[in-house]
Amino acid sequence: MNALDTPLSKDDLGALPVLLVDDDAANLASMQKVLEREGFTVRTASEGRQALDALRAESIALVVTDFQMPGMTGLDLLKTVRQVSPNTEVVLITAHGTIELAVDAMKAGAYDFIVKPFKRHDLLAPVRRALEKQLLLAENRRLKAELDRSQTGRRIIGQSEPMRELLDLVDQVAPSAATVLITGESGTGKELIARAVHDGSPRRAKPFVAINCAAIPDTILESELFGTEKGAFTGATERREGRFERAHTGTLFLDEIGEMAPHVQVKLLRVLQEGEIERLGGTRTIKVDCRIVAATNRDLQAEVAAGRFREDLFYRLNVIALRLPPLRERPDDVPLLAHHFLQTYARKNNKTIVGIDPDALEMLQAYSWPGNVRELENVLERAVVLARQDRVRADDLPQKVRTRGGPVRTITVSIGTPLDEVEQRLVNETLRLTKGDKRLAAQLLGIATRTIYRKLEAWGHADAGGGEDDGQE
Ligand SMILES: Nc1ncnc2c1ncn2[C@@H]1O[C@H](COP(=O)(O)OP(=O)(O)OP(=O)(O)O)[C@@H](O)[C@H]1O
Ligand SMILES: [Mg+2]
Repeated sequence: MNALDTPLSKDDLGALPVLLVDDDAANLASMQKVLEREGFTVRTASEGRQALDALRAESIALVVTDFQMPGMTGLDLLKTVRQVSPNTEVVLITAHGTIELAVDAMKAGAYDFIVKPFKRHDLLAPVRRALEKQLLLAENRRLKAELDRSQTGRRIIGQSEPMRELLDLVDQVAPSAATVLITGESGTGKELIARAVHDGSPRRAKPFVAINCAAIPDTILESELFGTEKGAFTGATERREGRFERAHTGTLFLDEIGEMAPHVQVKLLRVLQEGEIERLGGTRTIKVDCRIVAATNRDLQAEVAAGRFREDLFYRLNVIALRLPPLRERPDDVPLLAHHFLQTYARKNNKTIVGIDPDALEMLQAYSWPGNVRELENVLERAVVLARQDRVRADDLPQKVRTRGGPVRTITVSIGTPLDEVEQRLVNETLRLTKGDKRLAAQLLGIATRTIYRKLEAWGHADAGGGEDDGQE
């Protein structure tokens, strides 16, 4: 999906998407033709806003943009690209040698500039050079990320398509200072992603300060965030630094931001706009430089619509939106995660556990995980503790996973089939589903356990009297 994050060789230049931006359709088409003929992958946009959409849609290696455009100029676009996608290179095209402009562009971080009118080669040479640089950088980044991940031991597990896309986006936005809003159901890994954003940024060696807005009462939240001067209120016997000050030069993680009381929202907005705070009970302003990462399991847009969350604050926070997919949308990740937690908890409990039985794994994948990864983690911790053998078996999983998670099966009966036969087949199939657990089967069928025994006996089943797997725990 993301060409920049897999190992690349020089032949792969053509795999790196180049975005051409020009309001002149004829110019755009001719540049596109030149690049495509050389095997480059080309995207086009006719103005700045469209270009930003394209940048959001995929990882663009290089933007080649005209300077003179209605709306956003090439220079504006350059500055925005540096913000939202710091790894993307930008080449500007300027009309006849305006040196001042070229100097400005280079100062603002352009890779190169091309002066109009230009020939094929004048376009191809800087494009090729910029992409070659990108290849090297990408390879370095990849190796570094691999190392970092193994060093911190805080690996984010996820190979599914939605997780890969999310992690690509994290890699892309982490290096900037832009505010990030992480949304996702409870237990999907929002805090983990917040830390990954910090760890992927130049601030990684600086403090990462987290505050949970839901866990702290409104009255205290304010002083926690902004600090207090001595005597600010009864009991404030000494000056205290707030979280903003502690996160200075680092990252401030505002967890459960959706729970923040309106008056704190107002204050927060002001701090974000002005980059300075005032401690409670104080008058001195203190400059703070914090990268803000916020998270919520609420639908903030809906909260805005309902008047519970300030719209202006929402837009301030939502510069870059990262959405964590619920676990049920990525069953492919369940086996990986399950094994990861299995190992973690086996180590913690000093147990040797080699794996998970296939049918247990099947149940884990079929279950809907309302509590997401956290719930899966708890289920695996419990299973490791319960496991009587060197593997986790279906028996070691909680009932909710076993009942709802079992493979869905159906039986087909023709009209006119004797009821007794239908009943017999239904009971048998249900028992197969519960792996012979009669108590569970009875529960599913809505009958008493002793009824199932009676029926089995009547049908002449050998173990009707209660065999080895009659659902004991
Ligand atoms: N992709 C993942 N790989 C490994 N562990 C994960 C992953 N996602 C979540 N976890 C683990 O699951 C648990 C819950 O994650 P986290 O606390 O980040 O979720 P959250 O979205 O912040 O939840 P809540 O909304 O309830 O605060 C943590 O122990 C975390 O380490
Ligand atoms: Mg959390």
